[in-house]
Amino acid sequence: GQPTHLDILGERYATDDVTNITPAIVSKLTERLHTQHGHPLSTLRALIEGHYADYTHLSSFSPLVTPFKNFDELSFPKDHPGRSVTDSYYVNRDLMLRTHTSAHEVEVFGKGETKWLLTADVYRRDEIDGSHYPVFHQMEGARIFNATPTGMKEVEEDNERLSYHLARSNIVIEDVPHLAPTNPNQPEHNPLHSELVAKNLKLSLNALMLTLFGTSNRTEPLRVRWIEAYFPFTSPSFEVEVFFRGKWLEILGSGVVRQATLDTAKVPNKLGWAFGLGLERIAMILYSIPDIRLFWSKDERFLSQFQQGAITTFKPYSKYPSCFKDVSFWLPHEANLHENDFCDLIRDVTGDLVEDVKTVDRFVHPKTNRTSLCYRINYRSMDRSLSNEEVNEIQSLVVSRLKDTFGVEIR
Ligand code: PHE
Repeated sequence: GQPTHLDILGERYATDDVTNITPAIVSKLTERLHTQHGHPLSTLRALIEGHYADYTHLSSFSPLVTPFKNFDELSFPKDHPGRSVTDSYYVNRDLMLRTHTSAHEVEVFGKGETKWLLTADVYRRDEIDGSHYPVFHQMEGARIFNATPTGMKEVEEDNERLSYHLARSNIVIEDVPHLAPTNPNQPEHNPLHSELVAKNLKLSLNALMLTLFGTSNRTEPLRVRWIEAYFPFTSPSFEVEVFFRGKWLEILGSGVVRQATLDTAKVPNKLGWAFGLGLERIAMILYSIPDIRLFWSKDERFLSQFQQGAITTFKPYSKYPSCFKDVSFWLPHEANLHENDFCDLIRDVTGDLVEDVKTVDRFVHPKTNRTSLCYRINYRSMDRSLSNEEVNEIQSLVVSRLKDTFGVEIR
């Protein structure tokens, strides 16, 4: 059965009916890869911090937050899917693992910070494949200005400075309007102020993209495109994509901070912007790291390839053979099983030995109303060859855990 409490980061917490944090997740909470000297995520963080050298750099906030802080303070509606236990990790009803660094916006603005970066590990329940991992790292950046003529003059001067720099760089930008009926100004804002701030956000991030992707030896211009987006805590909102090695890559989400956020933080008469970017995504591209599990590797063949401050191309050591195992089962009468629940069980039993999981078959028996599921589990270690016997043993652990946890009947 379920334990009555969980020990997390030195504290004991009571569990309840929504508890879904597994030991595999608890073991990640102390890693803080973005602070491990020499780790690619640490170098990338430092590169971005160097770009925003006059900002306050924060990186030691606890991953445990209330759902109120992760969602409500940021104007998420009560029925937002991100709140569900299938998408997020809960210690209990009142405490969860942050799903994004935006969870700290109110707190940081409330301390009086006006230009800041915050780096942290974030947690989301997800499928298993080469680019998804239930823990990843984000960087939040924000800047706010006084909503006064002096404040807006500061924005205009910064915009001029950034435009001057960008005009002399090898970059091509596809833009969208700063404000549009589908991406509106907030009613609290003077549209002229909002436009200036959205422009500042774009210029600032275009300059960051040049720092990250605009290597000096490139002949083709760097292509950056801005896309209208939606987030509950910004308006207007934008996403940024960069064309790199033949593909458009989603880099970040951003927008003009909702006034409700700044009101809750008790900072009157200001407005500004925020962005949030995923470090693994960018690091995988810059270092040519092919599988997101590698960031967690303790293998010297991985770690010894990197040194703090240098972006180098990862040389993959040989891929070990993979081994597929299928598991088919009936769920208990009228029960359901979310793929994320299955994947968390896999991660808990196998650690990082599974490369991906695919649903092979799913159907409901017309007479008994029972659901039958078949998953294909692809086992592959990043560090060594797995023997068939060893995989069979792990697979039987998976099967017995499935029976115990979900009462399934193996077919
Ligand atoms: N928190 C958002 C995400 O995780 C990104 C974001 C940050 C968007 C700040 C707007 C402003 O997707």
